[in-house]
Amino acid sequence: MNDASPRLMQALSRRIRSHDESYRSKMLAMAAKLPDVIAMGRGDPDFHTPKHIVEAAKKAIDENQHHYTLPAGLPQLRQAIADNLRRENGLDYAADEVVVTAGTQEAVMLCMLALVNEGDEVLMPTPRFTSYDTAVEMCGGVCVDVPTVEASDFALVPAEIEKRITAKTKMLVLITPNNPTGAVTPPSAVREIAEICKRRDIIVISDEIYARIIFEGSEHLSIGTLPGMKERTITLNGFSKSYAMTGWRVGYIAAPAPFVAKLVEPRHTLSINANTPAQWAALAALTGPQEPVDAMVRAYAERRAYMMGALDDIGFSYGHPGGAFYVYANVEKSGRPAPEFCEKLLTEARVLVFPGTLFGDTDDRYVRLSLLQPVERIREAMQRLDAAKSRIFA
Ligand SMILES: Cc1ncc(COP(=O)(O)O)c(C=O)c1O
Repeated sequence: MNDASPRLMQALSRRIRSHDESYRSKMLAMAAKLPDVIAMGRGDPDFHTPKHIVEAAKKAIDENQHHYTLPAGLPQLRQAIADNLRRENGLDYAADEVVVTAGTQEAVMLCMLALVNEGDEVLMPTPRFTSYDTAVEMCGGVCVDVPTVEASDFALVPAEIEKRITAKTKMLVLITPNNPTGAVTPPSAVREIAEICKRRDIIVISDEIYARIIFEGSEHLSIGTLPGMKERTITLNGFSKSYAMTGWRVGYIAAPAPFVAKLVEPRHTLSINANTPAQWAALAALTGPQEPVDAMVRAYAERRAYMMGALDDIGFSYGHPGGAFYVYANVEKSGRPAPEFCEKLLTEARVLVFPGTLFGDTDDRYVRLSLLQPVERIREAMQRLDAAKSRIFA
């Protein structure tokens, strides 16, 4: 407890759980003291936001577009999102079925506020982006792990979902491609999952934030396109990953109009509206040239191919990453549990990566490698690992 504010610490609500951030803080503090660390830990693209998007925000500011918008977002942006969902994913949403949020992160919280009652169970893939846990728990819900394993490339297995459904199960969070594994749940499994959700009356939150970053041989299917699924699906997406717009904070929810209408008031309560110039930037992202996105995806593909080859050479296995910009590698061969391996990699090779345990993985053999450095830096990271192997491996 902080001695300077014992009263406030005692006053903390039950919603604020004490998450143990000590490992991450320790690693970041260690990295800050070392020279020339190759950071492959965060999920923030190394590319800058494409120029025409930045210019659109500047223009919006110059033209005094810096007032509140409607809570659900700029009408033009809502329309462009609906058009884009149809074009890219075959999803059938109208502009009034879209709510623009401050990043997909706010969309996650808004969904949980709107849907989770005390004791409701929410099924989620493990490992995962653990903001889902915080949001569900803040709303009094219970997270139920659906394990994904290396043997099936960390894709969600429909039978594993069904096994965990109880009378209290309200929702399934489907994240494909997934973070931290890059796993793409194949269309055949998505179809089976849809059938289970209809049969067992489960709501689906479909987080498709990485859907644009898909590699050859993998296919993304939006579950909301399947017969009878729109009425029970909430589609989440955003601009952070595909357009390298993490700091702009624009994301969105798409769902049937009556549900979306109910979100407007809580959405207003959270932050009134997403940043207005950033909404104009997002509009330019959707309506402008897409070549910059394609170029980034090509770069991720090159890095991923390099990384998979390098891991093969070291003898670390991994789940085949069908999308996103991560490789989830099994470091068992190092003879150390992943948290310890990451510490050694940092101190001996000055390469920062995070263990899967930070993503809720109960198996401590995995690390998430972010492919968010130029390929030459990734090559250097792997060379440093190789050179320091005798000190890093137990
Ligand atoms: C699966 C997933 N959903 C949502 C988010 C939040 O993204 P945003 O920057 O749009 O808030 C992230 C960020 O890493 C993520 O990995």
